[in-house]
Amino acid sequence: MEAKSATILAIESSCDDTSAAVIKDGKVLANIIASQKIHTEWGGIVPELASRAHHQHIIPVVDKALQTAGVTKRELSAIAYTGGPGLLGSLMVGSSFAKAMALSLNIPSIAVHHMKAHIMAHFIDEPKPNFPFLCLTVSGGHTQIVKVNDYLDMEVIGSTIDDAAGEAFDKCAKIFGLTYPGGPLVDKYAKEGNSSAFSFSKPKVDGLSFSFSGLKTSVLYFVQNQTQKDPEFVNKHLNDLCASLQKTIVDILMEKLLLAADEYDIKDIAIAGGVSANSLLRSELEALQDKGFKTFIPAFQYCLDNAGMIAMTAYFQYLANDFASLDFEPKARWAI
Ligand code: KG4
Ligand code: ZN
Repeated sequence: MEAKSATILAIESSCDDTSAAVIKDGKVLANIIASQKIHTEWGGIVPELASRAHHQHIIPVVDKALQTAGVTKRELSAIAYTGGPGLLGSLMVGSSFAKAMALSLNIPSIAVHHMKAHIMAHFIDEPKPNFPFLCLTVSGGHTQIVKVNDYLDMEVIGSTIDDAAGEAFDKCAKIFGLTYPGGPLVDKYAKEGNSSAFSFSKPKVDGLSFSFSGLKTSVLYFVQNQTQKDPEFVNKHLNDLCASLQKTIVDILMEKLLLAADEYDIKDIAIAGGVSANSLLRSELEALQDKGFKTFIPAFQYCLDNAGMIAMTAYFQYLANDFASLDFEPKARWAI
């Protein structure tokens, strides 16, 4: 793809983080993220509260991104936004804002696929994977193995038949009495725990499919059972419970990723999405380097939802003249 000079403002608002980034000629100059704390007290994301919080944050976040990048609105070549998948109300705040700004500046807009963008986070910093590579994309809403043939050419070769890996972390964390989102807390407590203390059943699903709903049920029954015998069970064993849960989820993910690498004979493998912030998953992936794999993990700030990854994808869409019309409707569901 021929490089062209472009300065793009990108907006991400698919879930509970409002983020804006600026990219100039393929280099991310600013990546500002405002997270929404409000959902913690509800034990999960409340869609209407998320939309309202995006509405409050979007102008200050965009202003800060432009300021940090040292770029004025007049210098922008295009405005990008997350077109989906995600919460519809949240997507509508970011997309309406982006379209209105593009219209007023008389520049094109670019609709970006959120899950593709998680993968494109690998092209923000060095080292960058070579094509084709495999990416395990694991977030609160998705668990997929994607074969990445080129910047904008990706195919899903495996996915979950029920819950996503992040959802499994969050739902089991809730059973342990932890606040939302539980994934980072499980990771934290697991550091002090013994991962072989408890054993949770692993799903038996064929091929490159994942399943996590059975694990959640098995954790629930186990905890209910133990708590009947000792009401303090979870408090006494929180670290071991978290370590055992984390090990089970990471084992399930790694097993399928290795199966895919073998099936497709690909040695460049990557992880992306919120769960790629997990310390055990990161270290298990890195350990594969000893087995002849080249492994890739985005910098921490580009693992969780962020507009930097939207900006990176938008840059390649810009080069490919892949612009959205102003009547593009955000999509709650959108296949890769
Ligand atoms: O990609 P992301 O920020 O948002 C979605 O697009 O869903 O992913 C959020 C998910 C949540 O389920 C969260 O618990 C999980 O990523 N997560 C983690 C960790 N950090 C975030 N899961 C396990 N360990 C972590 N350190
Ligand atoms: Zn995400």
